[in-house]
Amino acid sequence: MLTALIWLASIWTFTHPVASGFTARTADDTLASPPLLANLSHAARTVEVNLTAGVGKLSLVHGSAANVYAYNGMVPGPTLEANEGDHVIIHFRNNLPEATTVHWHGLHIPADQDGSPLYPVQPGKAHDYIFTIPYGTAGTYWYHPHPHQHTGYQVAQGLYGAIVIRSSSDPLPKSLREKVLILSDNRFRGDGSIELSDELSDKGQVDLVNGREGNVFFVSGKQMPVIDIEPGEIQRWRIVNASASRIYRLALGGQSFQQIGSDGGLFEHPADMKEILVANGERVELLVRGSGVAGSVVPLQALPYDRYVPQTRPGAWNQSVDLATLRYSTGAAVIPQSIPATLRVIPVLDTLASTATRYISFSQGLINGRMMDMDRVDVSAKLGATEIWQVENLVGMDHPFHLHGFQFQILDRNGVPEKDRRWKDTVNVPKHETARFIVRYDDFPGRWMFHCHILDHEDHGMMGILEVR
Ligand code: C2O
Ligand code: CU
Repeated sequence: MLTALIWLASIWTFTHPVASGFTARTADDTLASPPLLANLSHAARTVEVNLTAGVGKLSLVHGSAANVYAYNGMVPGPTLEANEGDHVIIHFRNNLPEATTVHWHGLHIPADQDGSPLYPVQPGKAHDYIFTIPYGTAGTYWYHPHPHQHTGYQVAQGLYGAIVIRSSSDPLPKSLREKVLILSDNRFRGDGSIELSDELSDKGQVDLVNGREGNVFFVSGKQMPVIDIEPGEIQRWRIVNASASRIYRLALGGQSFQQIGSDGGLFEHPADMKEILVANGERVELLVRGSGVAGSVVPLQALPYDRYVPQTRPGAWNQSVDLATLRYSTGAAVIPQSIPATLRVIPVLDTLASTATRYISFSQGLINGRMMDMDRVDVSAKLGATEIWQVENLVGMDHPFHLHGFQFQILDRNGVPEKDRRWKDTVNVPKHETARFIVRYDDFPGRWMFHCHILDHEDHGMMGILEVR
């Protein structure tokens, strides 16, 4: 036992989390938002952190420990928190036995800091990621590895974490309790180790088509955590879908909630909803209102969602899954804080300013009929240009499209104009549907990835390169 502990201590680099932003959990509230990466800097407007990807053993499910990959010894990794305008320095160390990168999914930062497959960090090597957080980008993002053809494997092994960017002009009351819910799923063998199937096996072939799915569900690393809420209370939930392929259709036992933001931060106005679709790679920000009865419990559920082709659709696809429990305290109701009707103003990207339309088609495993080539530029564009992308899904399963580096605004889906203006970096394109969005390459020349965010598809070539110059 002692030797095991010493061994663990020697392979993990521990950083001690600091408290800020998030309210400490109460004794029975088992949803602990991941700890924050400790800021080592005392300089103003500077966030300097250590982040190490390493191997070790962790008990992900009850039972024996599994060999995992982890950031700073944790699954999920600690949350990176910064303010708009901050200078961020991440001292990254790769203690894995293979090359990796850290991709800051959704952040608007220089191309060579984006952690794309073009910039691998070799095993045993260190790399400093340095960037400044642009104003207007406060929101929920996430980080994950992005090595060429090996992203799915490394994420399955435990590498993913949340990013929270804050704004000094956040319109929501500071007194709202805030939670980070990172959704993920995984598969395990009887001994608790992570099950990855051989690509040539039948299961491996199904993984290749559907994207790898697990039957064990985690919310910020916990199975079925309990989230305490007081009657009347409003909580702010930042939800990240870190699953390799699963699309969550979330509901709170029929209780309504408000969506206040998505990938690129807050909406202009809160939207009332009863369920919400969160594709892999996407984030949503919700206001959960404690409208239930004191002492009652309400499940956070994933309702059935058919993203599959019939041939590989899992048998249990049409069953709801409980992910967490919202538990009402028995105390007297609190008076809800008031939420502003306007959260911010989102500038319009004008279609009249668009100088090109990019046609992207998804077929199974291919983009525009081709496989990813690291040396090929698929779309080349001018710095400062505004363009429209039309992403068409030609096949009978959903593919979520993600563009690195730039937030875009969806114009229409299947010809139906998008009602509200929102910043997005990932959009699910359902089977046989088409989505159009508008984007402006306002800064940061270089080579940027766009791809299907089903990690098995991305790894097998469903990716292309946009060069901005
Ligand atoms: Cu979250 Cu290119 O990925
Ligand atoms: Cu795909």
